[in-house]
Amino acid sequence: MPSLRPTTDGVVTIRRPRAGDAATLIAGRDEEFHRFLGPGATDPNPVACIVVGGSVVGWVDFDVERTWLRPGEVNLGYNVPAAHRGRGYATRAVQLLMHHLATDTPHHMATLLIAPDNARSLALAQRAGFIRQGDLDGNPYWKRPVPAPSYTDGVVTIRRQQPSDLEADLEAKADEQIDRLWMPGQRELWEAMTPVEQRAHALAGLVANHDRFGRGPKWTFSVDGPTTPNVACVDCDLANAHVPADEANISYAAHPAHRGTGHVSRAVRLVLAFLRDNTGAPRAHVIADVDNVASVRVAVAVGARPVGSWVDDQGRTMVRHVIEIDRPG
Ligand SMILES: CC(C)(COP(=O)(O)OP(=O)(O)OC[C@H]1O[C@@H](n2cnc3c(N)ncnc32)[C@H](O)[C@@H]1OP(=O)(O)O)[C@@H](O)C(=O)NCCC(=O)NCCS
Repeated sequence: MPSLRPTTDGVVTIRRPRAGDAATLIAGRDEEFHRFLGPGATDPNPVACIVVGGSVVGWVDFDVERTWLRPGEVNLGYNVPAAHRGRGYATRAVQLLMHHLATDTPHHMATLLIAPDNARSLALAQRAGFIRQGDLDGNPYWKRPVPAPSYTDGVVTIRRQQPSDLEADLEAKADEQIDRLWMPGQRELWEAMTPVEQRAHALAGLVANHDRFGRGPKWTFSVDGPTTPNVACVDCDLANAHVPADEANISYAAHPAHRGTGHVSRAVRLVLAFLRDNTGAPRAHVIADVDNVASVRVAVAVGARPVGSWVDDQGRTMVRHVIEIDRPG
């Protein structure tokens, strides 16, 4: 099973422990830790440390060694020292750990066993979408299915990009999305390339997106339609300069032959579900050129509200649309 790769939502990063982290984790144990987790290991080695701004602020872990677990189930644990509590770091880290389970492991169910008087942990379980299953030995027992690696509504599917998406990607690049989505200067660079160079460049981009998928803070998906693969491309970026640090920017482009089908609106709704299940982002932004009627229509169709506008450095009026990510509680 591949070990956890550093994964970030733009605010917290979860990564494998490194030399020196064990001492930090032991120093972070407080009365609450010992009350609910006992004495603690002498050489702690959780699946991941939680890192914020370069400092370790806790850990998240899972194991399969509990007698009550069924095949495919894992038991989650976490600790955030008092100085760092109440900021959502633990919830965000649990979300990223769920994403790791989805992306890199065969496990399908996460469980939590929490003491009845551990109010903060019980609140986290609820906030992160775990469902109470009753008690085990007097302790509330919670379960949550591991998110699916791809999302579908029965009509479209969003999934990790593959190198085999190359032909559709080249077709899309031949079209107006060059003007809409690319940064100034990129069009000139693209047009200066020979067709062979363009192919190699586009393939390298797809391979990079494929390899990067699952690590955050940006996730790029190909959208498969009911009969045709790769009808659009959609991404969510949790470290975008135009949105607050802990929120998501969603952008999209339908491939030329597949416009006006509603596939992109469906795909964006699936991205919102992905964000709910795999990250702690509280809301998402869709920023669209006011003249790009089709793009604005998608923002409105998914329920995003226009909240303001500005003129960018190319003289375009950009409208910000915002949508809350629907979470339990
Ligand atoms: C359990 C434990 C990890 C919870 O820590 P926590 O800091 O309360 O949890 P979170 O990181 O989810 O923070 C939640 C708080 O951040 C706020 N918050 C801010 N931004 C947030 C965001 N983006 N997402 C979620 N919560 C956010 C929440 O509103 C909440 O505020 P509140 O405490 O005023 O209600 C911590 O109490 C602990 O380490 N306890 C000891 C060890 C332990 O009991 N482990 C579990 C055994 S089962």
